[in-house]
Formats: sequence, C-alpha cells, structure tokens
Amino acid sequence: MINILFVCLGNICRSPSGEGVFKALVEEEGLEENFFIDSAGTSAYHVGEAADSRMRKHAAKRNIRLTSRSRQFRKDDFKEFDIIIAMDKSNYRDITAMDRHGEYYEKVKMMTDFSSGYQKIDVPDPYYGGDSGFEEVLNILDDSCRGLLMELKRNNGL
Ligand code: 4NP
Repeated sequence: MINILFVCLGNICRSPSGEGVFKALVEEEGLEENFFIDSAGTSAYHVGEAADSRMRKHAAKRNIRLTSRSRQFRKDDFKEFDIIIAMDKSNYRDITAMDRHGEYYEKVKMMTDFSSGYQKIDVPDPYYGGDSGFEEVLNILDDSCRGLLMELKRNNGL
C-alpha cells in the first residue's frame, strides 16, 4: 500500500482537490487497492468543514467529487504517509518545520515537482479569487497528479 497525503493551508480547496483528482486517476486505472489517499491542512481554520462550495462546483464539472472533511496536519502523518505533497512553498515550510531533525525530509515534496507543464511553481491559493483561479488549480493538479501516478507506477512495478 502506498500512502499519499496532499497538504495545503485550509484543506478546503487545493488539497481536497489533489486528493479527488488523484483518486479519480487511480480509479480510472483500477489501481485503488494499491493506494491510501488523504489530505490535510497546515492550519486549523476550517477543521471539520466540507470542501469549499466553489471548489466542489468546479471539480464536479470534471466529474470529480470532493467528499473530504478538513483536518489539520499532525506529526504522526510523517510516519503514516510515504509521500507528503505540499501545494505551495509556505505549506512546505510549515510541514518541514514540524520535522525538526529532518528525519522525514525525503517524504515531503512539492505538487508541481511531478508536473510536466507547470514545474517549480506554487499551486496558487484560489480562496480570495474568482472562477479562473479554481480552474487553474484543477489544471495544475490534473497535470501534476498524472506525473505523480506515472512515477509511482514505474517505481513500484504497478
Ligand atoms: P486551501 O485554500 O489552502 O487551498 O484550502 C484556503 C482556504 C482558506 C483560507 C486560505 C486558503 N483561509 O484563509 O481561510
């Protein structure tokens, strides 16, 4: 089982979408049994809430259902997950700051590390913007999650 955790600030826009997009790709390929996929936020601002309704609406247009409830990232996640994927540099800093000795350094990645068209950029926070921001998030996640799945299939003989 490969355990993957997507992380953003609020766990109501970008990381629930990363979770949803990646789950849909895994299902398309019938690989569900090989993955445990979850998401979390570095903040506790929205704990217990469903994904943002605007994010859900845009995801639904692509047949992606966002069903997660917001939870905060916790230290135990470093042990429980094999790959921890930050949406932006600030998320990356907040996550790695909780790993004082750098024990889990290798597990923490940036989402666009896996992208072919959007390398080295942050997945932009869509919260205070308009429709185009939510679409851009989904475009970046689709590209990045395809790259992630390809790499994991190759490295794990799937
Ligand atoms: P997310 O978006 O990190 O992609 O879930 C945000 C959601 C809420 C806030 C910021 C970003 N907020 O400040 O409440």
